[in-house]
Amino acid sequence: MLIGFRELLDGCRATGSAVGAFTCYTLTTAAGVLRAADAHGAPVILLVGAGSYAAPGGSVLLPALRTAAERTSTPVCVQLDHVADRALIGRALEDGATAVMADGSRLPYDANVALAQDVRALAGRHGAGVEAELGHIEGGEDVAAATARGALTDPDEAAGFVAATRADCLAVSIGNAHGHYASPPQLDWTLLARIRERVDVPLSLHGASGLSDDDLRRAVALGISKVNVNTELRARLYAELARRVPETAPGLRLLELEESLADAVAEVAGEKLRLLAA
Ligand code: 13P
Repeated sequence: MLIGFRELLDGCRATGSAVGAFTCYTLTTAAGVLRAADAHGAPVILLVGAGSYAAPGGSVLLPALRTAAERTSTPVCVQLDHVADRALIGRALEDGATAVMADGSRLPYDANVALAQDVRALAGRHGAGVEAELGHIEGGEDVAAATARGALTDPDEAAGFVAATRADCLAVSIGNAHGHYASPPQLDWTLLARIRERVDVPLSLHGASGLSDDDLRRAVALGISKVNVNTELRARLYAELARRVPETAPGLRLLELEESLADAVAEVAGEKLRLLAA
């Protein structure tokens, strides 16, 4: 079933848990994530990256994920992830996204505020939620490269940013990065605690792939309500393809192959959901 973005995140905050948000490039990936959600009785967010959405077939993927979400018994959001293009965000809302991420983190502060405000107004007309980012989380969404931390989130600036934009969720930069960590990740826990103190909306942690179990649990304990995972899913999908393609090639048993891929995704997602539970 679908659930409102803010309602979902506020629920997590109230119980001291975090929702897992998983990047879905295909329906098979989404099937795996939803299977894990069902098995754990946990809500999830299905993320569609900007690259996927803009790619051929992308505009069909989003409504398809929404339909899949509507048919589950666990609460699900479908979110367009990391977009600075207002027109693309508008289209995704028309296509059924229940949340969008207005990512103006590469823009000057005022332009980031203006983007988030515009998207807040746009999303409001669709009853959808808005996530914004302050500081900058480095790293590519679709190509995993060794990545160092980006500009960190300033707690005082974050308080003003959230007040000005009325974003439902703030993505923080506390040493986290997308893709592979260039060196062992060192999250700034003091900074996270200071942001949590100053900001009154749910916080999200991107770049969860490569973080230890302890780091994930600690992030949730310190007030993270949403955790984004992509790279670890892709790594597992590639490993599963390498293992299963030779096995299923005789007879071109594509259904069996797809089923293995969904199972592999469900395993990775399930492991994260277990760590994020209260
Ligand atoms: P990873 O690719 O590092 O898991 O990050 C995913 C993410 O933050 C998606 O927005």
